[in-house]
Amino acid sequence: MPFKNFSFRNIARDTFNQATESLLLTWHEIATLFGLKHDIYKNPLHKPLPKPVTAILIGAGNRGNIYADYALIHPDELNMVGVADSHAIRNGRFARKHKIIAANRFYTWEDVFKREKFADAVIIATPDQLHAPVCLQALDKGYDVLLEKPIGLTEEECRRIHEKAVSTGRIVGVCHVLRYSPYFRQLKEIITAKTIGDIVSVQHMEPIGFSHMAHSYVRGNWHNSKTTSPIILAKSCHDTDILRWLINEPVEDLQCYGGLRHFTRNNAPEGSTDRCTDGCAVEGSCPFSALQIYYRDRKRLYVFDLPEQRKNWDYIILKKLKTTDYGRCVYRMDNDQPDHITVNIRFGKNITAVFSMEGLTSYEGRCTRIMGTKGDIVGDMETYTITDFRTGQQTSWSLKTDFHGGGDHRLVQDWVQAVGHQNAGILSSTIDVSVVSHLMAFAAERSRLNHTIEEIKLNK
Ligand SMILES: NC(=O)c1ccc[n+]([C@@H]2O[C@H](COP(=O)([O-])OP(=O)(O)OC[C@H]3O[C@@H](n4cnc5c(N)ncnc54)[C@H](O)[C@@H]3O)[C@@H](O)[C@H]2O)c1
Repeated sequence: MPFKNFSFRNIARDTFNQATESLLLTWHEIATLFGLKHDIYKNPLHKPLPKPVTAILIGAGNRGNIYADYALIHPDELNMVGVADSHAIRNGRFARKHKIIAANRFYTWEDVFKREKFADAVIIATPDQLHAPVCLQALDKGYDVLLEKPIGLTEEECRRIHEKAVSTGRIVGVCHVLRYSPYFRQLKEIITAKTIGDIVSVQHMEPIGFSHMAHSYVRGNWHNSKTTSPIILAKSCHDTDILRWLINEPVEDLQCYGGLRHFTRNNAPEGSTDRCTDGCAVEGSCPFSALQIYYRDRKRLYVFDLPEQRKNWDYIILKKLKTTDYGRCVYRMDNDQPDHITVNIRFGKNITAVFSMEGLTSYEGRCTRIMGTKGDIVGDMETYTITDFRTGQQTSWSLKTDFHGGGDHRLVQDWVQAVGHQNAGILSSTIDVSVVSHLMAFAAERSRLNHTIEEIKLNK
């Protein structure tokens, strides 16, 4: 047995090993066993920066703060010198956190570009419909960009940004953060080294989770595909990107089914009311009750910008539930996003993939099954097991992380390096490769709506 030299200090790991006959190893051990790269994040192009990259955050909401926090942890690499957000509380909080001078605070993104360029780069984390217009102006002004996904709301917008990045020679990193998570990085390394032979097919699932589905895609910012973007783009362009990245062959064509099955007026239970706070007769038994999620369980409260002092939270949360979409009945919203989607995709070398997005699950994250000619991999973002067909040996890995698998700051690190050294080649998630994932999502939506098989054409 090639494994006997590994010393297992962890009792939980020993128990796992005895119970499953699968070896639970660290990445270091798996890399040694299969002769893979130990440091999956090591990039020989990463070098110390002569000075920190300076950046302006446009959109100081949830995502923008996550990326900009990198500057607080690594001030020698990134310095946030400006902010634009039309929400006064968020603008003020961000300015205090990053010590931004009054002259560099803006209430709307347009005002940033009325000034002469005063930083190296901008981070764009505004709502979906404000990605393409902001990015185009930023590139025109000579800024490098870190752009939240989706790149744009239409194929045309995505292609224009790609062309503008090429014509201005600026760097555009797209926030496909899953590429930077340990789980997907390791899968990529295992596949590239042909540890399971050649890939034949992949099944990949994105379980959104019933409460996250209700929060974001039934009640929240992305409930209407016409005012934001189709869920296959808004939520799943990460997955079309990951599939193409892992399979590493051109995508040829795809076909999509799916729709809105559950969150419709027809399914509103008898006795339900427009808002959960209106005396709904079934509130106590509804898994989507806003009173339960936000008021009793105190979950997903970041959308309410609550004051740091908690003493008035009861009153404020109830008021939000009575006045915003977050208190509305999930069966009586003006939502149109599908709650389940299945896409069949054909890649080069006749490799196939099935992607399914599921809104009604009790769990979140990603589930992946990769079928190779010599073995297979079964994973769920926090664990994976490689099985060797010939020996039957199973090797497993496990790590508890956030749902992006710790990828957010790895992405920022790569982008800062790319901007600091003016080398887009440092980035994994560049604009050109990211555009492909978006073309796949647009094609899937066309297929779903028109019942067609759609070819993916990189050039118009
Ligand atoms: N990469 C990922 O994994 C991931 C995850 C979640 C969301 N996202 C994307 O990130 C983006 C931001 O999402 P979020 O959850 O942070 O949203 P958010 O609502 O928390 O933040 C958006 C911010 O933009 C500000 N804004 C709106 N209009 C503006 C304007 N005219 N000028 C300046 N600021 C303006 C809002 O006030 C808000 O603070 C969205 O496009 C979303 O799709 C990406």
